[in-house]
Amino acid sequence: GKGLAVFTSGGDSQGMNAAVRSVVRMGIYLGCKVYFIREGYQGMVDGGDNIEEANWSSVSSIIHKGGTIIGSARCMDFIKREGRLSAAYNLVTRGITNLVVIGGDGSLTGANLFRQEWSSLLDELLQNNRITKDQREKYKFLHIAGMVGSIDNDFCGTDMTIGTDSALHRIIEAIDAIVSTAYSHQRTFIMEVMGRHCGYLAVVTALSSEADYVFIPEAPPSVDWKDKLCDKLEQERKSGQRLNIIIVAEGAIDREGKPITAELVKKVVVENLQQDTRITVLGHVQRGGSPSAFDRILGCRMGAEAVMALMEATPETEPCVVTLDGNQAVRLPLMECVRRTKAVAQAMADKNWDLAVQLRGRS
Ligand code: F6P
Repeated sequence: GKGLAVFTSGGDSQGMNAAVRSVVRMGIYLGCKVYFIREGYQGMVDGGDNIEEANWSSVSSIIHKGGTIIGSARCMDFIKREGRLSAAYNLVTRGITNLVVIGGDGSLTGANLFRQEWSSLLDELLQNNRITKDQREKYKFLHIAGMVGSIDNDFCGTDMTIGTDSALHRIIEAIDAIVSTAYSHQRTFIMEVMGRHCGYLAVVTALSSEADYVFIPEAPPSVDWKDKLCDKLEQERKSGQRLNIIIVAEGAIDREGKPITAELVKKVVVENLQQDTRITVLGHVQRGGSPSAFDRILGCRMGAEAVMALMEATPETEPCVVTLDGNQAVRLPLMECVRRTKAVAQAMADKNWDLAVQLRGRS
């Protein structure tokens, strides 16, 4: 059977295990020899026990677990050609020419580069007598399929990334808990949520928790935001509300690009309104815990689709990323999605927020 390996890379997210499970079982079902690569790219570079054959039962009882059971890492060695040479050697000598990568845009970009270099890496291995001519010929094509695992929902081309829905569950549970104590003491709470440079988690959180105010990177507030915030909070209290909730995305900025932090917001509220104000930074709680039903199913469907994409690939097939479009798992050209995702980052850096939002949407 064809050699196929799956690995998780970059920050973990809930639902990655469902995706891994699906890849392993679909691969075995279709007659592949399936491998885990542990610790992301680092395991690929280091080889040895990090690359282990998987069987049907090695992915039993993992669908409900958060994180990734095969480990993840941010790998510096893979950035160097020397590291990629070693990774190529570890794959070829096991007959692996199909890779499923589950990670963010950096991890997917790395996979694409690896594929572009594959031929020259094999040539070098042959020259150094580390692989045989037969191996060079037999394993000359590398096929890649990606899936996006991230709580941030910051990748272009997909409606949802694996983990976002579970993170929202964690956040909402926390806010509901905060609300009862805030209500009792007539307090104002500022909650900082993750998302890196993406405000998705913050916006959805704000909408579903009846928050009074939200700060996100994609829509920096007007220069008079402090007055507007205070007016709004005051108005809510005057109308009988016993508490205020403000959501701050960790990447929130003002129109000059300066961070709007939970501390800054607190200072504004305390100085102007003298409200009893507390901050809760949710942190990595958001990335942990059981995956939601949605993320389990998302991981399953994407994993199966990724394996099918690999099995149907011809030498000319470009690497794909499996994304969610409406309610369908679809294949999109990996690099086009990565390029769009990077264009969003550039638009944000250029303070062209309208363009950033437009690029993030479907095209
Ligand atoms: O990308 C996922 C994420 O949790 C972001 O929301 C956050 O900014 C970052 O990773 C935190 O990274 P680390 O786990 O390395 O602290």
